[in-house]
Amino acid sequence: MDFFPAFLDLRGRPCLLVGAGEVAHRKARLLLAAGAELTVVGPRACPHIESLAAAGHIRHLIRRFVPADVAGNWLVVCATGDTAVRSSVQAAAAKARVFCNCVDDVAASSYITPAVVDRGAIVVAVSSGGSAPVLARRIRARIEALLPSGVGQLAALAGRWRRRIAERIPDAAARRRFWERLFDSRIADELQAGRPDEADRRVEELIDCGDGPGEERGMAWLVGAGPGDPGLVTLDGLAALQAADVILHDRLVPPEILALARRDAECVAVGKAPGENVNSQESINSLLTRLVGEGKRVCRLKGGDPLIFGRGGEEVEALAAAGLPFRVVPGVTAAAGCAAYAGIPLTHRDVAQSVVLLTAHGKDSVDRLDWASLARERQTLAVYMGVRRFPELMRQLIAHGRGADTPLAIVENGTTPRQRVVRGSLGQLALLAEAHRIESPAMLIIGEVARFEATRPAARQPGYEPYAGDYAIDRLATNQR
Ligand SMILES: C[S@@+](CC[C@H](N)C(=O)[O-])C[C@H]1O[C@@H](n2cnc3c(N)ncnc32)[C@H](O)[C@@H]1O
Repeated sequence: MDFFPAFLDLRGRPCLLVGAGEVAHRKARLLLAAGAELTVVGPRACPHIESLAAAGHIRHLIRRFVPADVAGNWLVVCATGDTAVRSSVQAAAAKARVFCNCVDDVAASSYITPAVVDRGAIVVAVSSGGSAPVLARRIRARIEALLPSGVGQLAALAGRWRRRIAERIPDAAARRRFWERLFDSRIADELQAGRPDEADRRVEELIDCGDGPGEERGMAWLVGAGPGDPGLVTLDGLAALQAADVILHDRLVPPEILALARRDAECVAVGKAPGENVNSQESINSLLTRLVGEGKRVCRLKGGDPLIFGRGGEEVEALAAAGLPFRVVPGVTAAAGCAAYAGIPLTHRDVAQSVVLLTAHGKDSVDRLDWASLARERQTLAVYMGVRRFPELMRQLIAHGRGADTPLAIVENGTTPRQRVVRGSLGQLALLAEAHRIESPAMLIIGEVARFEATRPAARQPGYEPYAGDYAIDRLATNQR
């Protein structure tokens, strides 16, 4: 290790900041947030530093740095571009044995500041020892995504109870087991749901049951995995994947998303392929309720959004009827994901004021469709599970008045590296599907909006750090070629 990681308690301790410009102001904000008693020295101040001084938050010495300024401080930060001043600050700090950070100059610094994930009581610091700060920031972004937003509240709750728990569970080993059970319990869910009183009540319950089986009530999360790109899993979806003992997943959920689950979680495929009925809905419902009833934490991972053509409603009913706790974590539905990745706006001020999500799954569902209303102009149709019914869809829509020249796009394997977009008009639908051998999963988008295509990849802004959404940008560019 080139640098020893530590967290400093700066509350009420004098610290010195050399430089009074914009960079210095950013440092001043952090030091003040940590409670430092801050002196800023520099002849010219930016307006922010001036107002901090005017408000009495800092002491501003309007002059150049002199080595004697270092005396009495716990920490020195040098945020000036003037190399002569920087050398003088570095030398004075070294002489006084005070740690000194020179912004963007690792060689001149005796300490460096990490990239930080701040969740209240939980703070994660990432450092590359100054060799790759952008990489450290990207790692921080990933940790940021992994840490549930409620983790700080959980740490705060632990802090509030710490002394009482030590009194009530004096044995150290029993106490450690207690804390492990607490952090594995549903107390975090209560905090995240904004029920701190319920969380406290559960802590009491957990203490009362001692080392016994305790709070083994299970939990189910119905999580929308999105249409395929792992970058479209929500932060809460990711947290549920990380918390679950068992993942019951649909056929459409790709391995890259399953890889986000806890390594020791059991993954069970319960998907139904079109035309097959490997697992009936009833058997999925009973497996889900049985596992949760046994006290397992189960993530029911479904493609797209769990409550849009996903039969999630029936699973919710089964859980509710069994009196079991559950939470629905919405996901990006296939229509939204496929349209976005194909460069199609589902609605557009000029050509489509509404969008209808419909399924053309089986003969029954097609027979029940209201063709006259679906054939209306100025609306977009997003058709799920329709591949086998394309010829009938085409006939009925045209027969009910939608123009044969209405544009359409078929997005197969949308948002994944295998995405294919086939464009044409309503009158060509059956032919297109056959000629291009369209396979499930495919999303059919009918309406004027299907004419749209992204014309060029989104511009990368300076300072923008590429992340999962870039798949979309790159793929859009590829589709264009
Ligand atoms: C059983 S439905 C599930 C829908 C899902 N709950 C949602 O909100 O997207 C499956 C259908 O969604 C569509 N679909 C799901 N993922 C897709 C993808 N990656 N590309 C294209 N269509 C997709 C297809 O029409 C597929 O037949």
